[in-house]
Amino acid sequence: MSNKINVTTNHIEEIIPEEEAVFNSLRASDWEEFYGQDKIKEALRIAIDAAKKREEALEHILLYGPPGLGKTTLSHLIAKEMGSNIRVTSGPAIERTGDLASILTNLEKGDILFIDEIHRMNRVVEETLYPAMEDYALDIIIGKGPSARTLRLDLPQFTIIGATTRVGMLSAPLRDRFGVVHRLDFYNSKDLEIVVRNAAKKLNITIDKESITMIARRGRGTPRIALKLLKRARDFAQVKGKGVITNQLANEALSLLDIDTLGLDGSDRRFLFSIIDKHKGGPVGIETIASTISEDIETLEDVIEPYLLQLGFLKRTSRGRIVTDLAYQHLGIKQLSGKDQQSLL
Ligand SMILES: Nc1ncnc2c1ncn2[C@@H]1O[C@H](COP(=O)(O)OP(=O)(O)O)[C@@H](O)[C@H]1O
Ligand SMILES: [Mg+2]
Repeated sequence: MSNKINVTTNHIEEIIPEEEAVFNSLRASDWEEFYGQDKIKEALRIAIDAAKKREEALEHILLYGPPGLGKTTLSHLIAKEMGSNIRVTSGPAIERTGDLASILTNLEKGDILFIDEIHRMNRVVEETLYPAMEDYALDIIIGKGPSARTLRLDLPQFTIIGATTRVGMLSAPLRDRFGVVHRLDFYNSKDLEIVVRNAAKKLNITIDKESITMIARRGRGTPRIALKLLKRARDFAQVKGKGVITNQLANEALSLLDIDTLGLDGSDRRFLFSIIDKHKGGPVGIETIASTISEDIETLEDVIEPYLLQLGFLKRTSRGRIVTDLAYQHLGIKQLSGKDQQSLL
């Protein structure tokens, strides 16, 4: 059996390697550098302290929420706080039970196994994980046919931290085996401002206060996106200005990226307009929207919809998605009255 652990970074959003390197260099290395999400931080610190006092491994933790909110960062911080080794893998990377067995048998007491995109793990592998999570044991089948027998291997006490953008796709038995479950929410603009200001300091970027506020407001409540915007604004300021991000330069840079005052970009608008123009504002099924704008459903549900739902621009009903009045107002479109709609039918 190989000891090799597969390390993948298989994010849903497209990530440019050079940009990811910047993000990694910015990754909070300290609890204090991780801003916002106060309730989750507090709850995790209590769980960590309790585990340390009992000298036990931490309970298994599930972190879920849209991409870019800090699930991976938090996992590393938890490991640091526990003083534990962290092994990084992802659901799709563990293809066979043998892969899982080799990972688990190489863990030491107290180690943390971070499984990103845990909803994409295959079912057979997942079932092998149940006894491992519950009893720290691994059932291995040796041989084939009638002579096959099961061998139970004891594992050291370890902790799994699972991260997912789609908790709904996790099977109930897997979800139930996590003692601690946290949903990461979008950040408010105050917290994002701190994230942006701190990153600017780390990257030696000179930026004025208004620009920090502007970038934070347009960061879709998402640290990764706010940091991306900061980087683009810096590039812009280096080429068009004197390297200093001023209000005007930040504004021009963001306009160039087609990002509006609330952080909506071209994909968000395409999504909303497809419902408004082609389906009279909804309700319309997600499959139909996906095929209208040639996007896959997973991207729509994980990346685009959560923020629109949070803004109150979109409603999910049993009959499909509906664009709300707020969205019409923001997009500057006059909504058809009920009567006009009738006459169109
Ligand atoms: N609370 C936070 N405070 C500061 N920076 C953050 C925070 N959350 C995320 N980041 C930054 O955003 C980037 C994306 O976070 P990450 O942990 O990779 O998100 P996820 O795993 O949820 O997709 C990180 O590189 C980190 O620099
Ligand atoms: Mg991640």
